[in-house]
Amino acid sequence: MLKAFDSNVECVGILKGWKGFMENITIPLKIQDHDDLHTLGGTFLYTSRTNPFKKLQKAKSEEEKEKLKEEIAKDMAKKFEKLDIDALIAIGGDDTLGVANSMYKYGNANVIGCPKTIDNDLAGTDFTFGFWSAVQLASNTMDNLTTTARSHQRIFIVEIMGRDAGFLTMYSGISSGADIILVPETPFSFQNHVIDVLKRRVKAGHKYHIIACSEGAYPSDKSLENDFKTISKETIQQLPKDSFGNPLLNRLNISQILSKEINLREDLKEEFENNNANFECRDVVLGHTMRAGTPNSFDRILGLRLGLAAMKLVLNNDFGKMVALKGTKIKNVPLSEGSKKKYIDPKEDEVELRNLLIKIRYKSREI
Ligand code: F6P
Repeated sequence: MLKAFDSNVECVGILKGWKGFMENITIPLKIQDHDDLHTLGGTFLYTSRTNPFKKLQKAKSEEEKEKLKEEIAKDMAKKFEKLDIDALIAIGGDDTLGVANSMYKYGNANVIGCPKTIDNDLAGTDFTFGFWSAVQLASNTMDNLTTTARSHQRIFIVEIMGRDAGFLTMYSGISSGADIILVPETPFSFQNHVIDVLKRRVKAGHKYHIIACSEGAYPSDKSLENDFKTISKETIQQLPKDSFGNPLLNRLNISQILSKEINLREDLKEEFENNNANFECRDVVLGHTMRAGTPNSFDRILGLRLGLAAMKLVLNNDFGKMVALKGTKIKNVPLSEGSKKKYIDPKEDEVELRNLLIKIRYKSREI
């Protein structure tokens, strides 16, 4: 908006995401009301989980899907006239930007994508804005939880947002020194990655334990079959889906399941008692507290930089791009590439670090 105002470009805000776009709900944006917007969390434009392409889920073949997609995208491109806008900067995650990309691809609409999500799961950018603020919130909470975990000698399972991507859990878990970190990218073995680690930790003298667990983390099929008493493979298959067709993993309540399963393990209880430690597991769901408060400095500045780059693309009539952070520079990438999903790569150093951190915690005391 700073660049738009400086370039005499009039701005309107579309309320409630794609819902407002479809239903022509806009407000004029006056720079004097929003010149410190980067210091605020959330969005004054409101948001919704409306997916204009929802119909596609009912398509019976890939061919029908493509046809429908094209129809809807062309219809949406026509909305520009109704809304009286020349260009749209879509701000959001893979769902929001996926819609923007289809509008560009099929309807040749003047759209630019701006990557904003706490999940950091967009392929075209190193970081999305919102991510580091949420990492900090989760990390602070896990730091704080150690106080009560230590006093009561408890195991705490902390459930962290991020849907099917584990960046939030991995980064906040490493940052706060969590003792076990479970992410969706690699289905875990309850026996090897949780029970055995807890046993080794308690033998090594640790009396409390923090487990950082993604809301989307889930056990391997083998582990589901062998290690669980309270859920089965069907429990995961039967989860409801959101309007974009994503399984609602947070409905699984994985932290609650794991805490129940841990409390049921007599062998673990015995190991804790033999090592003179209390045995009790509790679960904490961070949920929306992770999307709370004001953004940190990194996100404020990243948001401003991405906004400036997006407006420059609009001024150059250079559409179908996503603005992105690459290293320390802001670059443009094709929206089709940028809006794809990104997951933790098991070969990356974060994974190696996590594994080292967890192993060294008990190994160093065993020697
Ligand atoms: O995509 C961002 C995110 O915060 C995810 O991490 C989380 O699963 C989801 O949104 C929660 O969405 P809602 O607030 O609509 O339940």
